Amino acid sequence: MRVLYVSTEVHPALKTGGLADVNAALPPALAAAGADVRMLLPGFPALLEAATAQGARIDIGAAFGIESIGLVPCRIGATPVWLIDAPTFFARSGNPYVDGDGRDWPDNAARFALLGWIAARFADGGFDAWRPDIVHSHDWHAGLACAYLRARGGAGPGSVFTIHNLGYQGQFDATAFAALGLPDHFFSMHGLEFHGKLNFMKAALFYADRITTVSPTYAREIQGAEHGFGMEGLLRSRAGALSGILNGIATDEWNPQTDRHLGARYSADQLRGKAACGDALRAELGLTSDKRGPLLGVVSRLTPQKGLDLLLEALPVLLAGGGQCALLGSGDAALEAAWLGAAAAHPGSVAVKLGYDEALAHRLFAGSDMIAVPSRFEPCGLTQMYGLRYGTLPLVRRTGGLADTVIDAASEHANGFVFEAALSADLGAALQRALALWQQAKLWQAMQRRAMQADFGWAASAGRYMTLYRELRPHA
Ligand code: ADP
Ligand code: GLC
Repeated sequence: MRVLYVSTEVHPALKTGGLADVNAALPPALAAAGADVRMLLPGFPALLEAATAQGARIDIGAAFGIESIGLVPCRIGATPVWLIDAPTFFARSGNPYVDGDGRDWPDNAARFALLGWIAARFADGGFDAWRPDIVHSHDWHAGLACAYLRARGGAGPGSVFTIHNLGYQGQFDATAFAALGLPDHFFSMHGLEFHGKLNFMKAALFYADRITTVSPTYAREIQGAEHGFGMEGLLRSRAGALSGILNGIATDEWNPQTDRHLGARYSADQLRGKAACGDALRAELGLTSDKRGPLLGVVSRLTPQKGLDLLLEALPVLLAGGGQCALLGSGDAALEAAWLGAAAAHPGSVAVKLGYDEALAHRLFAGSDMIAVPSRFEPCGLTQMYGLRYGTLPLVRRTGGLADTVIDAASEHANGFVFEAALSADLGAALQRALALWQQAKLWQAMQRRAMQADFGWAASAGRYMTLYRELRPHA
């Protein structure tokens, strides 16, 4: 089964969110399940730097107003990758999608159309003798691959599209359509037009042979108005082609027994090292050594999606119960300022680190007693799974992948705390329950052990993707 895996970011070289973690771990898991997986990614400087070149640049000529586009064959880790060499589009500061001030690059439609266009050209064996059986593209950036494959017509690879976040759709002015080189009739309601605009996500949802998203619950939720971001009708009409496959985590990298970022290591049988991680984290962040209540950690982008405004409102409940809070995150200026304000108001009890810090994230997952993920919506979410793996009990809202991975303390299978509505009062009530349970050390430890023993490796989910590929191409 030859799979062309099309996306944009790969941990640790280039990461804006969980997509990068998935892109680092899923291709090797698919390879282990027997697929011949190769990735196609834009040649962002960080990726070119991290990759090991494997041969000469293949010149593919001009497209989208760029004179000489190339493909650089290389490897990232063990995975074969083609990086698209088009510096005019990709050699820029800022992140893949926005400039240094957080504004979308004005030519994003063309930049990411190029990615999809090249992906589809692999079907013709244009660059290489290697022709994919499946083109698997991820999120709106790669979504146009599905439209280009459909426009190409005839027999060719099956297309699979994975939604990681329906909140970002890649929507552009209709005038951007002309430069895409797609048939005119594609710009219609039965195509990639959405309320008069050009929408890359819609292109993928309309033209992909199969659609997946990163948890079973999110696959259901996005068919309704609350979580569908306007795509719910289309997704309902494609329900037969839509499924949810839960993300895994890189269990070698996220392992409290071997984690090189930690001063002390631990396991489900020997939790003592976790207490040492907690002491070290408190000292590092300037939190007092008062342990009357749990230390609640957060590692997150600061956007409305993540519901951290709700946690801010519920902080008095935690603090009144003797708990502490440590947040590592970055994003919206107003949320950053509000969290800094909370830290200033509660020195020794609330610590806030703004920015992105991989090593501190590991120390925070290990040293905290709980991890909060109070999201308004969450396609899968990885941090609750990192928490579970580190015996750091998640406190989450019942939505998306959070609902599929965290079991509330009320159950005999409990591994965390779950609340229903996106309201600070509901979050606060869950915190109250956690504070009460904290007083019963034996019960708390039993939950920690249960959390740590769960299997969040990629093997099972990679097997599900393989089954899906085989449904589309039984003879590959
Ligand atoms: P999303 O992709 O919506 O941001 P996920 O939970 O899927 O949410 O993935 C987030 C990833 O980014 C996790 O690996 C998390 O540890 C990491 N992360 C988020 N914010 C930070 C930060 N400030 N520092 C380090 N890692 C972070
Ligand atoms: C998105 C989602 C997150 C998911 C990640 C990886 O960024 O917001 O829930 O875990 O993609 O699939």
